[in-house]
Amino acid sequence: MNKDSIIILSGGMDSTTLLYDQQERIALAISFDYGSNHNARELPFARLHCQRLGIEHIVIPLDFMSRYFRSSLLEGDDAIPEGHYADENMKSTVVPFRNGIMLSIAIGMAESRGLQHVMMANHGGDHTIYPDCRPEFVNAMSEAACTGTFPGVTLLCPFTNMTKGQIAARGRELGIDYAETWSCYRGGQRHCGRCGTCVERREALREAGIDDPTEYENGKPQITIIAAVAHNGAIGLNNKLIYWLPNDLKRFKALTTGHTIIMGRNTFLSLPKGALPNRRNIVLTRKGLSASQLEVREDIRENTTLEVFASLEEALRHCGDDEQVFIIGGASVYRQAISLADRLCLTEVDDTPQEADTFFPDYSGWHEVWREQHEPDERHAQRYAFVDYER
Ligand SMILES: NC(=O)c1ccc[n+]([C@@H]2O[C@H](COP(=O)([O-])OP(=O)(O)OC[C@H]3O[C@@H](n4cnc5c(N)ncnc54)[C@H](OP(=O)(O)O)[C@@H]3O)[C@@H](O)[C@H]2O)c1
Repeated sequence: MNKDSIIILSGGMDSTTLLYDQQERIALAISFDYGSNHNARELPFARLHCQRLGIEHIVIPLDFMSRYFRSSLLEGDDAIPEGHYADENMKSTVVPFRNGIMLSIAIGMAESRGLQHVMMANHGGDHTIYPDCRPEFVNAMSEAACTGTFPGVTLLCPFTNMTKGQIAARGRELGIDYAETWSCYRGGQRHCGRCGTCVERREALREAGIDDPTEYENGKPQITIIAAVAHNGAIGLNNKLIYWLPNDLKRFKALTTGHTIIMGRNTFLSLPKGALPNRRNIVLTRKGLSASQLEVREDIRENTTLEVFASLEEALRHCGDDEQVFIIGGASVYRQAISLADRLCLTEVDDTPQEADTFFPDYSGWHEVWREQHEPDERHAQRYAFVDYER
């Protein structure tokens, strides 16, 4: 095939996948060093893949950006927010019009080299936060490039409407080793595992069925999700458990005693006797409530602690590296924690309840590592199994 394109290559998962996917057409790869925390980590991977594929690679310095532009991505690693990529606070990581600037340079380079297209690996998950990744922007920029150059250079952005998980699945087909890509905005020695790009990376690899090869910092407690889940994923009704299985409660106690449990405010309010003894109890609420405002019982038991945090990330930041943390529900906290968890300890109940209003998130991508089957008896109306999963 005719080599008619330039690619903007960061060294992250998406542009590396596009590089391999379109290698037949790519004459030149350009990376930009705009002074972000993670540029120094990404660029060696961009170089490595170009060398491997025999594609010319140029790094263009845009050092004026870190001097004149405002973005947490250009400040110290402490400025990078933690949480999900789509969260509002991740907006602080936008580098204003970064893609517009990089594309303008690439378009000029394409015309100078007699090339017809510029490729960029923006994707559907970028749309929420980054205006210069959205289809409207890409179409407008392509039209501007076509009008503003003699050969009518256009943009090729084939991932615009794909999810990052779909991109990773394509990379898997292409045999890409994602350990040879960089995502973490913090730009430390290892991926932090907690910032928006790390969370998104983990989710995408899991969605694509890839065993995550990324080396993450050790500074993360061991996180286990524990729940009793029906066939259809049901876990609750009217802020109560659906099943009251003595053996499940026994297992819950055995696993969590001596460790830290994190729960949403609804689940806390559903506990019949308040905070659970002999465990570090952490409750999440955005309402600014203190522990004493939450704990309805006046005679707070000995051996019980209750702490309150305004986000899951903040709670985890207050957990030590060697602490064992159990996420004990409910549905909203399970949904947030599943991309951070190392292990699921589930009680799978062989039943589909008539009524339920809260459900466990999809965990079909996890691997079963242990199962113990139990038949019904006088105290357990349904068949059930204790099942452990790892990523
Ligand atoms: N089957 C099981 O194993 C199991 C286990 C646990 C719970 N459950 C069931 O699940 C149901 C409750 O689940 P749910 O989703 O309704 O409620 P939940 O997750 O227990 O609590 C939701 C509340 O937690 C707080 N919260 C959640 N995420 C937060 C965050 N990131 N930062 C700060 N605060 C946060 C918010 O409180 P504010 O509104 O105060 O801001 C939110 O309204 C109940 O039916 C319960 O019985 C089942």
